[in-house]
Amino acid sequence: MALPFDGAISRYYEQDAPEAVRAALRDAGRDDVVNPRFPYPERMKKSDYEEAMARLQVELVKMLASVRARGQRVVLVFEGRDAAGKGGTIQRLTENLNPRAARTIALARPTETEAGEWYFQRYVRYLPSAGEIVLFDRSWYNRGVVEKVFGFTTDEARARWFDQVGPFEKLLTDDGIHLRKFWLNVGRATQLERFLARERDPLKQWKLSSIDVEGLSRWDAYSAAIDETLRRTHSPHAPWTVVRGDDKRRSRLAVIRSVLLGLDYEGRDLAAIGTPDPKVIGGPDLWT
Ligand code: ADP
Ligand code: MLT
Repeated sequence: MALPFDGAISRYYEQDAPEAVRAALRDAGRDDVVNPRFPYPERMKKSDYEEAMARLQVELVKMLASVRARGQRVVLVFEGRDAAGKGGTIQRLTENLNPRAARTIALARPTETEAGEWYFQRYVRYLPSAGEIVLFDRSWYNRGVVEKVFGFTTDEARARWFDQVGPFEKLLTDDGIHLRKFWLNVGRATQLERFLARERDPLKQWKLSSIDVEGLSRWDAYSAAIDETLRRTHSPHAPWTVVRGDDKRRSRLAVIRSVLLGLDYEGRDLAAIGTPDPKVIGGPDLWT
């Protein structure tokens, strides 16, 4: 079977990737994390991960029951580079939850009608009602990063967006919505490793897009746009939580733990949740 995008990912790996990235991928063993800057050289042990995850899943079920009983509204925003693990994290967060009460929103690129609207309008439609959790797999932060890197917006529109995003989020939180924003970060070798897996695996190929392929050579433009966006949109009412995503097991546990610790629900078992690992999760300082 032909590779998607004519094998553009493996071609990039062989011909264009920086030598340090190629070396990191070449030298990594099966259980190693390929980003040399990740604080742990090896992935978390699968059995440890599964044990911790099972406990967290029980807590998530309790959390949603409490959100419903109390009529709370929760918004979880997931952002990060392509292949940072947004989709997989959201999947683990929601797998044991009633899909009507915990909804995932992953919008396609704006239609012509949506492009003519106020930028935040199409997201507002999906905000939670009482007793609901809405998880955004990408969000209004597209304008800060991917739209900038690919020229899908103008500088003027993006400047207006920067003026509006803080007040927009303040309106939500002032109205009582619990808003959490997660930025999943991965190193360049990790991203390339995951793209290569997507290219090879017929079950993962759907995740690969032309944006991913084109984005390979725009790493630095992404870095600049991310840096600016995190800096300018980290506010007291809507702070960013940054997660090192190079080991999916550690990052999924870290995000779920953080969600559970961020909302005081009925029957919360702090011992079952455990403590956050400051090497893996923190504020914008963790973004490098
Ligand atoms: P994903 O990472 O969600 O699988 P892609 O990597 O293909 O999707 O695209 C990244 C983001 O860029 C998506 O949210 C998509 O809607 C957005 N996007 C793609 N094309 C455009 C466009 N022409 N204008 C605005 N946004 C776009
Ligand atoms: C991710 O892995 O971060 C997301 O599922 C989306 C993607 O990379 O296309």
